[in-house]
Amino acid sequence: MRGSFKILYLGDIVGRPARKFLLERLPHIRETNGIDLVIANAENATSGAGINLKSLRELRSAQIDVLTLGDHALDRDFCTGADENRDLGNVCAPCNLENGPRCPDFVICESSGIKVGVCVVLGKHFMKLRASCPFKKFDEMLAKYGPSVDIFILEVHAEATSEKIACGWYGDGKAGLIVGTHTHVQTADECILPHGTAYITDLGMCGAHRSVIGRDISAVLESFVNGARCKLVIADEDLRLKGCIVDFDRATKRAIKISRFVHLD
Ligand SMILES: [Fe+2]
Ligand SMILES: [Fe+2]
Repeated sequence: MRGSFKILYLGDIVGRPARKFLLERLPHIRETNGIDLVIANAENATSGAGINLKSLRELRSAQIDVLTLGDHALDRDFCTGADENRDLGNVCAPCNLENGPRCPDFVICESSGIKVGVCVVLGKHFMKLRASCPFKKFDEMLAKYGPSVDIFILEVHAEATSEKIACGWYGDGKAGLIVGTHTHVQTADECILPHGTAYITDLGMCGAHRSVIGRDISAVLESFVNGARCKLVIADEDLRLKGCIVDFDRATKRAIKISRFVHLD
């Protein structure tokens, strides 16, 4: 058995080009990096807005173990509908929305005998959806599920950098890993915090680097510069996968290393 337990956590997957790129590349990335578990945010997986069953199946085939959602979780009937046969077992929705999607708000995934639990909180600042306090919700989730997992992961899906950094300090020593998502731009502040929690403010995005956070540049410029209401189509040039790889000690289950991850052609 390898020395450390390795988790690859990928940022927001944007549209079909990113799904296709993951299908092509992720199995090999898993193998060559000795990854035990892959978690990815899939809130933009289907045409940039939410996720449907086809995308979910594709991403499972790409060997992603846990898929998280963010503020786009309510964009599609697939996540909000009442059909009990939707097979959303490994899809983790934000836990601090009052009328959130009908998906689990905590997902436990086991790999080589280590149980990893994942939950997502939405930030409260500059977000369209109204969420309850992410700090109090984190405490609640930790008290409820913390004892049943070896590694507790918190994803903070938020616009405000300050809110994500504050969540990092708040959760230091309580969660094994805290990652930020939503801005689609990877930050260079990955670290192990003083009480042992691995942390990064934003994982970045899986999608087209030649874009405006995954969307076609000219369409976004039309919208910003001329105020035109045009379709913000998904960009597909210069695809990259971004996130982080975190090594945990198999005995203590504590984070020992966090590295930014970037894969491109
Ligand atoms: Fe988002
Ligand atoms: Fe996103």
